[in-house]
Parts: sequence; C-alpha cells; structure tokens
Amino acid sequence: MDTLINITIDGKKCTAKEGESILNTARANDLFIPAICYQTKCSPTLACRLCLVEADGKQVYSCNAKVKEGMTVNINTPNIETERRAIMEVYDVNHPLQCGVCDQSGECELQNYSLYMKVDEQHYSVKDVYRPTAHWGVMNYDPGLCIVCEKCVTVCKDMIGSNALGTVKRGADALSAEYKASMPKDSYAMWNKLNKSLIGFEEDKCIDCGECIAVCPVGALVSSDFQYKSNAWELTKIPASNPYSSDCSLMYYQVKHTSITKHSEQTIYRVTNDAHYTSLSGAARFGFDYLNRAVKDEVSFVKAVDAVKNADTILFNSYITNEEAKILQSLKEKLGLKLVNSDALKFKAFMSDYSKVTGKNLYNGKVEDIHNSNFVVSVGSFLKSDAPIVKYAMNNAITLNKGAGLYFHSLGDKHIEGFGKKGKTIETIQNKVFSEDAILYFILDQFGKNLPPHIEEYLQHLRETRVKTVTETIKETIVEVITDEDTGESKEVKKIVPKKVSTEVEYTYTKLLDSIGADESLLETITAMLLKKDTYSIIIGEDCISHPNATKIATLAGYVEKYTDFKVVVTPTQTNTLGVSEICDLDVVATGKTVGYNVVADFQLSALGDGDLDMPPLNQQEGTFVNIDKNVVPTNAAIKYDGYELNDIANEILDYKVIHTIDYTAEIFESVKFDSLENHFTNDRVEHRGYPIKMTEVQSEDVSILDECTSIDLIEDEYIVYAGNPINQFNEFTAIAKQLKDEVVALYVSESLQKSLELEEDSKVEVIANDMIMALDVKIDKSLLGDISYIPTFDKNINTKKLFKHRFAKANIRKV
Ligand code: SF4
Ligand code: SF4
Ligand code: FES
Repeated sequence: MDTLINITIDGKKCTAKEGESILNTARANDLFIPAICYQTKCSPTLACRLCLVEADGKQVYSCNAKVKEGMTVNINTPNIETERRAIMEVYDVNHPLQCGVCDQSGECELQNYSLYMKVDEQHYSVKDVYRPTAHWGVMNYDPGLCIVCEKCVTVCKDMIGSNALGTVKRGADALSAEYKASMPKDSYAMWNKLNKSLIGFEEDKCIDCGECIAVCPVGALVSSDFQYKSNAWELTKIPASNPYSSDCSLMYYQVKHTSITKHSEQTIYRVTNDAHYTSLSGAARFGFDYLNRAVKDEVSFVKAVDAVKNADTILFNSYITNEEAKILQSLKEKLGLKLVNSDALKFKAFMSDYSKVTGKNLYNGKVEDIHNSNFVVSVGSFLKSDAPIVKYAMNNAITLNKGAGLYFHSLGDKHIEGFGKKGKTIETIQNKVFSEDAILYFILDQFGKNLPPHIEEYLQHLRETRVKTVTETIKETIVEVITDEDTGESKEVKKIVPKKVSTEVEYTYTKLLDSIGADESLLETITAMLLKKDTYSIIIGEDCISHPNATKIATLAGYVEKYTDFKVVVTPTQTNTLGVSEICDLDVVATGKTVGYNVVADFQLSALGDGDLDMPPLNQQEGTFVNIDKNVVPTNAAIKYDGYELNDIANEILDYKVIHTIDYTAEIFESVKFDSLENHFTNDRVEHRGYPIKMTEVQSEDVSILDECTSIDLIEDEYIVYAGNPINQFNEFTAIAKQLKDEVVALYVSESLQKSLELEEDSKVEVIANDMIMALDVKIDKSLLGDISYIPTFDKNINTKKLFKHRFAKANIRKV
C-alpha cells in the first residue's frame, strides 16, 4: 500500500504518494509543469531543466525532487519564467526552419513550448556544425533537429534494456564566454551541455522497437517508412490493442486517405502509442500494414456456410477476438462439432493444474507488479521474442528499482545480459533443456515459506552440507622498526596492512543445481542480490506451458504462488490465448472434415485472402481480447472491412440476426457493452482499459509431484533446436509486414555454432527432427549464445512446427 502525504502546489491541496516526484504529483493532480526530458518510469536525465519549480523556497527540478509532507510548491516565479524562456530560446538556436515538412510538426514539443514561452526573438547564437542525417534500423536520425534531451537514450536503457543509444561528441565551438556571465544560470548550463553532444547508435544492440521514436519530442527520430508521408493533423487516431501478443498494449492506428481523388481509400499510415504511460512492441508499431480489401463474395459465402455446417472440426488459433471465440463456441453447441486450438488448450490445462494448488483459476500477478518489484525471475521464456512488454518490465524493474534478476533459459541471450545499470544486476543461467521443474523446485527451496511437508522433505533429500574455503582481506596492525639514516636512531612504527585469511565455512548445497546445470556460485550470487530486496515477481514462460512435463511445472508454479512472496505472471502465448481458453470448450484432436480459421484446413476462412472465403484481419475488426493482466480490453477497426465475417456465417447457421460482431461483447464475461469499454490512461498514469475478468475460487488440494527432475540427453552429432521467433515476428501478418520482412524463417545460429558447424550466413542446411526433414537457410543471430539454434514458427505457409512436439527438439543439422 502506498503511503499518502499532503502537499500544496500553486495553492491547490494535493495528495501525493510518498517517494513520488513533484512533477508526477502535479500531473496526477491535473497541474501542468513544463517538462521535456523526463520520461515516465525512467530515471530523470536533467537535460532540459524546464521543470524547475520552487519547493519550500528553493529552486528544484521537479522531475527529480521528491515530495515531502506539508511541502509548498510554486510552479511559476519570475526567475523560473526567465530561465524557461531562455531555455526555449536556446533550443531554437540553429534549429532548422523546416516545420512545414517536418513529421513532428503539429505535435512537436519544441513548437509547443516556444509558443507557450512566447519566444519571438533570439538573443543567443553559436556557429553550427555539419550534422549529417543517418539511417538507423527502422528509423532516421536528423541531428539538425535533435535537442539532445536524451529521452531516446533513457528509454532505450531504462525501459527497453537495449542500451543502443548514447551521447557522442558534437565537435562544436565552445559557447562565447560572455554568455556564462550574462545568461540565466540553468539555461546556460543546459546549453553548454547540449552544445557538446549528439546521439550515437549501436546497431547490434537495437531490437527495432521504435520506442525512441515514440518518445522523441521533436522530429529528430522518425520512422523511415512514415517520413514525409503525412502531417500529424491530417491523421485520424483510432485507439486499439496490440493484435500480436498478449500484452494487448494500448496503441493507435493513424489513418488517412491515400490520395485526394474521389475514390481514394483510407489506409493506415502509422501506429503510435502514449509513450508517457505505456510501451509498445516493434511488431505492433511496425507490423500494421496488411489490409484485406475484400468485398462480399456470395458464392464463396454460401460454400463457407455449407462447409461449417458439414464440418467435424473447426481449427483455429488465438489471434481472434473474444466475440469470435464466443461465435465459435455457439457453433460448437449448435452443430456438435469439435473446436481445436492447441495453443489455448495447453494454456487451459496449465492453468487448471496450477489452480488445483492455489485455489484460484488464474495467476496472481500483472505486468505492473513486475515493474514495481525489485527482484524478478524469468523461467522458460525466450523473453525478448515471446513477450517484449514483459521483457521491458523486467529490465525496468532491475534498472530503476535498484533491482536484480535471474533469467533461466536454455538459449543464451546477449540482450538480456545487458539489463540493469553498472554492476551485476542480472544473472543469466543457460539451464539444461526441460529442467524448468528443477528451477521451480529451486525457487521453492530458496524462497519457500511453510512449505507442505512432502515438498520440504523432497527438497531436504536434495540438500547436502558442503564446506568451502572463504578468503577475505582483513586489516592487520604490524610494528616496523625504522632507522633514521642521518642520526642512526631506530624507532618502532605501527602500520595497518591488508592480510588475506582463509577460513572454512559450511554451506547448504542443493543437487537441484546439477539438474538445472547451474554453477554453485549461483547460491552466493542470489544471497548478494537479495540484499535490500522486498518485492518479488516471477515470469512463467511459454516453454513451461508446452513442456513435456507441463502438469508438474504448472503444479510447482502454483506452489510458488502459494508458498513464496513472488507475484506470478504466466505469459499467455498468443494475443487472446487467455480469452479463448476461458470462452471455448476445446477438443484435443481434429477429426473428419475441417474448417480452418486462419489455419490450414480442408476449407479455409482466411484474413490473409489466401483461403476459400476472406475474413477481416484484426486491424479491421472491433472486439475485445483478454490480456496478460486478465483484463478484457477493446480494439477498434483501423479500416472498414467490406467482406463477410464469422458473425454472418453464424447468423445463417444459428438463425440469429446479430448485426455487429460486437453485439456479442455484453454476453461474454460481464454484461458490459462494447461502446462502454474505456481504453485510455489518465494523468495519474492509471490505466482505464475495459474491466478485469473475475477470479473464481477452485477446489484446492495438496498435489504430490515428487518425481526426480529430468532433462534431455544428446548423442554425437545431435543438436537441440528450439521453436522460437525473431524479435517482432509473431504470425502470418507480421511475416508480410513490409517493415518487418527482413526477419525470415531460417535456422538461426549463434556465432559460435556457426563456426563449429562451418556455416555461413544464407548457407543451406537440412534439419532432421522428430522424423521430419526440412531445408532451411542459415541466419546468424549475433545476440544468441551457445549451441542451441532456433527455428521460427510464425509463418503458417512454412510448416516448421512439424519439427517440434515441444519447443525443444533433438535434431541433426546437415550442410547441403
Ligand atoms: S533524438 Fe529526439 S529524443 Fe533523442 S536526444 Fe534528440 S531530441 Fe531527444
Ligand atoms: S528502436 Fe528500440 S532498441 Fe533501437 S535504439 Fe530505439 S529504443 Fe533502442
Ligand atoms: S523534465 Fe526535469 S530536467 Fe527535463
């Protein structure tokens, strides 16, 4: 619970959270303090100095100064107004007058604040330097427009965890000495710093998330695809939810007509987010462009109705809305057909086993709990690709909360190793394949409280007392006799010198470390990490849900929720895995005639336009998803869809007259109509998005799961391959997004595996796994570590899934 205190800002009595900044408190109380460089949930860079206020008589930077009980704050004083006005004049020095063509024009903070501070003349100047533009990944950097607020650097480090941006030397002339004496103090200091720097980029570290573009207050960082395409004010912003992963982050499709001719069509120009409140993954930001312009095709529609009526099974995935899931369930109930969705079925089974221990149908954590914790553990998630927003939360917690974390995954990942600030704040453990059960036992061993006797006994039989030699340096006082060379007199002098002493100490080892494949130094690392830690969260990833031992893993994860202080967040695999698993009564295997919804089948309903009847993709649909936080959140159609929808098929078969798919919304979890669902944040950073689904009580039991932990063994020439996607690839829609098309289906290998297998980029291999054989190109992933390679599964047209029964498979890799 936050402790609340009272302060007064500009005469208004405000309630503030203890430890909160003055700036955030003012915002939460709907008071405006000018500020450019502060980025929510990131450390203050103190670059702009605009946020100056007077607090209890002293000038402070409100983004950095914390509230105190009884504090009185004045946002404007004559001196502060002079400083702010001078700062804005300085920002306008050598800023090119290209607002007419700049992408940011209309939503530019430099424009806004220059007007707000009434900058109508310029008192300052310095010779400009040559500042060439650069193309960086998905974006263009124009240093001529850059005001070096360092927001991009901060968000990349503190939120995303990539550290791909930093300041570099500008090489400008020094400021004229007379400015130091004549200018307001803060504006001079700000300018002096700005005049020395520009922004530099390290391509290998960048994950193309585009969050730096989102936070840039001017037009210095822009999407290369969007550049010079439209003025901001011509675009209509349509609130929606990320259609590619279960974060379902709030985002906006920005749409406009393609030309000024009479028959011009609307199209999506870009996707943006409220970067002050929330982040967005690269897939959501850049994978928006596929649209299905289908019209009503009567002949195919009649065939589709017939196909569904005669189907034995409908195959589908979880990239659908709750309303569509409800329609499929209604069809099942009416026609007695099977509904097969292996993704949602696995999740449902996992949560069912989990809830037998906890007594609640769902896990107790949310992504915000990860942000707020100072010790985070991730188990069985290829985090950067599986759940980008969860990855950002883990990095953010470690970086901002003086936190620490453990990342258990069989694939080594340089991106994760870079989490946190200087010093050892993250430990990455490349655990043995399928050892997630041992990891969860280990968490119970280290953090469990009042464990049930059968678990405690099991953990005890794996413990042994060992002895180790600890060497420490102590201070020892010695006496030295010193003889004076001139007089020949000797005297005794006391000196303190360092001395190394070794002692033998007993410690408790657990054989679980052998099962995990972790070094015993992990025990010491955890002890060191846990100093001053009091808020814990754990991420249970997709590898756990599809694990060969998923029942055992789910049960253990339930024990972690029940008997430790960890908040548990299980990551639903696809956008609406959780919603589908709650709404649909799913079957295990398909039989007979099949109809596929965006899945290959005898008769295909396809949003991609490659099936027997077109369907709307998610960016052309209204509806809801259940996100990772267990909230029902709405999404809107960016562009109208003119073809037939699942609702039309259901109306024919069920004899309904439902006009819009969203007419089902109020029939699913709670009787709340679609148009009543909120989808925004307020100034206090509180999310108002839909509503939480109800947690239900489940009969709990003390489930016994005490078999030994196992892992996979390899023989000579065998390797492990992993079903994992490159960052930003999730399904067939991201696969064809024009800004993401460089990420392809291939065998992704680390640099070390590339050398040992003597492979080159784009060389061809055959992968043989689970009695299947597949020819693939080779791609080198420089962020990957170790000998496990990965094969993407995002493209439904390249059936790499046949190589896998679980996420890991033994394989032979043959050069072709
Ligand atoms: S690129 Fe944009 S966000 Fe980054 S320092 Fe320059 S102005 Fe600030
Ligand atoms: S795109 Fe993302 S990872 Fe790359 S520099 Fe920008 S914030 Fe950092
Ligand atoms: S917002 Fe506080 S220094 Fe820039």
